[in-house]
Amino acid sequence: MRRVLLHAIIPLSLPLALAACGGSDRPPGTLTLVVAGGSSGTEAEAVQAELDRFMAVNPGIRLTYLSTPSSATERHTLYVTWLSASTPTPDILNLDVVWPAEFAAAGWILPVGEAAGGEPALPSMAPGMLEASRYRRRLVALPWYLDAGLLYYRTDVLERLGETPPRSTADLVRLATAGVRAGVRYGYLWQGSKYEGLAVNFFEAVWGHGGEILGEDGSVRVDSPANRRALRFLRDLIARQRASPRAVLTFTEEPTRQAFQQGDAVFMRNWPYAFRLMNAPGSPTAGKFEVMPLVGVEGPGAAALGGGVLAINRRTRHPEEAWRAVEFLLGREAPKRFSLKTGYAPADLSLYDDPEFRAASPMLARMKEAFLRARPRPVSPAYPALSEIIQIHVSRALTGQEDVGEALAAAQREIEALLRKHQAEGARAGAG
Ligand code: GLC
Repeated sequence: MRRVLLHAIIPLSLPLALAACGGSDRPPGTLTLVVAGGSSGTEAEAVQAELDRFMAVNPGIRLTYLSTPSSATERHTLYVTWLSASTPTPDILNLDVVWPAEFAAAGWILPVGEAAGGEPALPSMAPGMLEASRYRRRLVALPWYLDAGLLYYRTDVLERLGETPPRSTADLVRLATAGVRAGVRYGYLWQGSKYEGLAVNFFEAVWGHGGEILGEDGSVRVDSPANRRALRFLRDLIARQRASPRAVLTFTEEPTRQAFQQGDAVFMRNWPYAFRLMNAPGSPTAGKFEVMPLVGVEGPGAAALGGGVLAINRRTRHPEEAWRAVEFLLGREAPKRFSLKTGYAPADLSLYDDPEFRAASPMLARMKEAFLRARPRPVSPAYPALSEIIQIHVSRALTGQEDVGEALAAAQREIEALLRKHQAEGARAGAG
C-alpha cells in the first residue's frame, strides 16, 4: 500500500495560503511557534529533532517544544488552563486522543479544514484515531501515533518457573504470585494513580470481564455485575492476592515502566512505547521480556485505544505557519523517524507495511492487528468529566474508602446526571 502524503492531498489552497503569508522568506527567527506535547520516554527529544529539521528548511519560522508532564491528566489541566484563558500559545498541541471533542466543543482548536484550506482524506489512518479526531463530523485534529494497552512479561522468569505466558486473568494472578514467591519484587504492575490512566486500566478490566461503560444507545452501564467483578479483580490484586503492590496506587506509566525495566516485576500493563526503551542496550531487561495482548477472564482481553493527535490553537497568531509545521510533523518522513526513535506506534497504518519500519520495529509490525482491535473510550465533549467520576470512585474502591458496589452505584448516578446536563446544554445550543 502506498503511503498517502498529507501534502499531496491537500488542495492547492495550502501552498497559496503559505505563499501569501511568506512563511519561509522571512528573515530567520522572526516568527516563533510553540509546540506543546508530552514527555514519556524519549518523546520530547524526538519531537525536538523534528522541529530542528523543520527549522532547517523553514528558516523564517522558529519552533520551540514545550514539554509537559507525561501524566495525561496533569497535561489536560495545563492545556485547559491555557486555552480557557484564550492565550495564543502554545500554537500547536499534541492532544490525547480523548480530548479533541471537548476542545472543539469549547472552541479552543481550529477545524483542520479552516487551517488547511480543505480536509485531507487520510485513507490509511487508523479508523478509531480518525473518529476521535472529529467533532460534529469535521476534522479538528490529525492523528499522529496510537496507543493500545499491552501485557509485558519477563521471559526469563516464566522460564525459571517452567511456565508459559498467561491465557486468562486467573493465569496472570497465579504466575504473578508465583514470581513473587520465587523472589521477584513485584508480580503485576499497572497504573492505579488517580488520573486518566486509572480510567484506562479500569475500562480494560471491565471489557476483559465482559462489561461495558456505555451501551450502544448511550445508556450508562457502569453499575453492572460484570463491572463489579472487574473492579473487585483490580482491588483484590492488591488487597488479597498481593499480585500487585500497593505502590501501583501511585503509578502512572513512567514509574511502572521504570520498575519493570529495573527487573522488579514479572508482568506489566503499559503502552507500546515501553518496548524500545526496555530493550535498549544497557537496559536491565534487554532481551528478557516479551509483549502480548492483554488477557481477560475467558481468554483474550481488550485493550483501550490511546494515542496522540495534533491540533492548532484557535487563537494562534500564525495559523498558516502552524499548519505548515503540523503538515511537516505528519507528512512523508517525520512520523516514521519519530516512531523509529521513540518506539511509539504510528497512527498511519500504511507505515506498518514499510520494509524499513517492519525491520526496525518487529513488535509494532506484529501487533498491528491488536492495535486495530483496541477499543476507543467514549468520543464526547463530556468524556474528561465522565472519566474523572470513574477515577474518583474506582480510586476510592481500590483504597478501601468505598466498597465496590457503592463505588459503581455512585459513579453510575453521577455519570447519568452529567450526561443529562450535557444533553440539555447541547439541545439549548442547538436551539439557539
Ligand atoms: C497514553 C495514551 C492516552 C491515555 C493516557 C492515559 O498517553 O496515549 O490516550 O489517555 O496514556 O494515561
